[in-house]
Amino acid sequence: MGGALRIGVIGVGTISGQYFETLPRLGGLELVAVADLDHARAAAVAAEHRVTPLSVDELLASQEVDAVLNLTIPAAHVEVGLRALAAGKHLYAEKPFGLTTATAAPLLDAQVGGFRIGSAPDTVLGTGVQTARRALDDGIIGDPIGAAVHWSSSGHESWHPAPAFYYQPGGGPLFDMGPYYVTSLVTLFGPVIRVSGLVSRSSRIRAVATGPLAGNAVPVDVDTHVTAILEHAGGVASTVTVSFEVWATKAPLFEVYGTQGTLLMPDPNRFSDTVSAWTIDQPEWHELEVSAGYRNAGRGIGLADMAAAIVTGGSHRASGELGFHVLEIMEAVGVASAERRIVELTSTVARPEAVPLSEAP
Ligand SMILES: NC(=O)c1ccc[n+]([C@@H]2O[C@H](COP(=O)([O-])OP(=O)(O)OC[C@H]3O[C@@H](n4cnc5c(N)ncnc54)[C@H](O)[C@@H]3O)[C@@H](O)[C@H]2O)c1
Repeated sequence: MGGALRIGVIGVGTISGQYFETLPRLGGLELVAVADLDHARAAAVAAEHRVTPLSVDELLASQEVDAVLNLTIPAAHVEVGLRALAAGKHLYAEKPFGLTTATAAPLLDAQVGGFRIGSAPDTVLGTGVQTARRALDDGIIGDPIGAAVHWSSSGHESWHPAPAFYYQPGGGPLFDMGPYYVTSLVTLFGPVIRVSGLVSRSSRIRAVATGPLAGNAVPVDVDTHVTAILEHAGGVASTVTVSFEVWATKAPLFEVYGTQGTLLMPDPNRFSDTVSAWTIDQPEWHELEVSAGYRNAGRGIGLADMAAAIVTGGSHRASGELGFHVLEIMEAVGVASAERRIVELTSTVARPEAVPLSEAP
């Protein structure tokens, strides 16, 4: 393969628009085809972006496609991913990596013949989380001791036009929002070795609020309030609360505590929010200057980082191994809750390489 990595997108629903905005300004990538189970939707999106609409089978068979960008719903991630790898394509997929580690593990095994897997979230490669990481590694708050995450809302049915998948396995606040926070925690402190947790759900009736399906009931088949404690290999303790049950809160989204101060983290679902610190040496909240990460990033930067690594032969940051480790952490929260025990993890992953302050590849 020479030149840009030619991208075929499978699944052109709500999130695809954000990728289509970013892809043209990322080097090393060229959008060539789109496919969706909903062929009319694929045709409309293809016309807008002047690419070819294909069926999923045609896209996977196409010699024009080097890599599949899998933006389907969580329940389809593994099946579509396995087919893409079997067809001799690189794969980059939205989160979560899969529904369970048992069903997702074959993806990692299918990563043969030089074909790679990348996994969202790639927000952690932006200036927000990377500046926080740099501050932490520079010792601005001393040695890290713990972190606290509190992400909550009343539920995605308030804004998503087809929110059913958020309430099926692979959704819920943990599998939907958890990847942003857990991936950030692994980026900051390294792999997790032990997990504890407790989950619950209300019997609240949920209904779609916007779009053509408005008023339709949304069946709930996931836990909607999740609390977890993660022990990182280096000893840092992270507490994580994610919930679709909270109407109002004043809890900080994400903080990191060290022996010399506290970092107020950026929103890890965004690329370039600011980072603030309070330290013993500077004992008031102050914003940190941007010091690391891809500037001008957007959804798809992880794929561009992977394309660059394919060319150089280096390793890419938003890797399948990281996505799988994050999946195992999230799965372990449910096991810990159901079995009332602490779960030891079997997978591990190296802290992904830091991103120096640079323009998007
Ligand atoms: N919506 C968001 O704001 C958002 C943000 C970040 C990440 N994500 C993630 O992106 C993924 C997609 O979310 P969305 O909100 O775009 O969902 P969506 O339901 O709006 O779109 C999914 C699309 O995939 C298609 N699809 C489903 N199964 C398929 C299959 N087997 N083959 C081909 N096409 C298939 C559907 O027809 C639909 O067009 C999810 O994993 C979600 O967690 C969504």
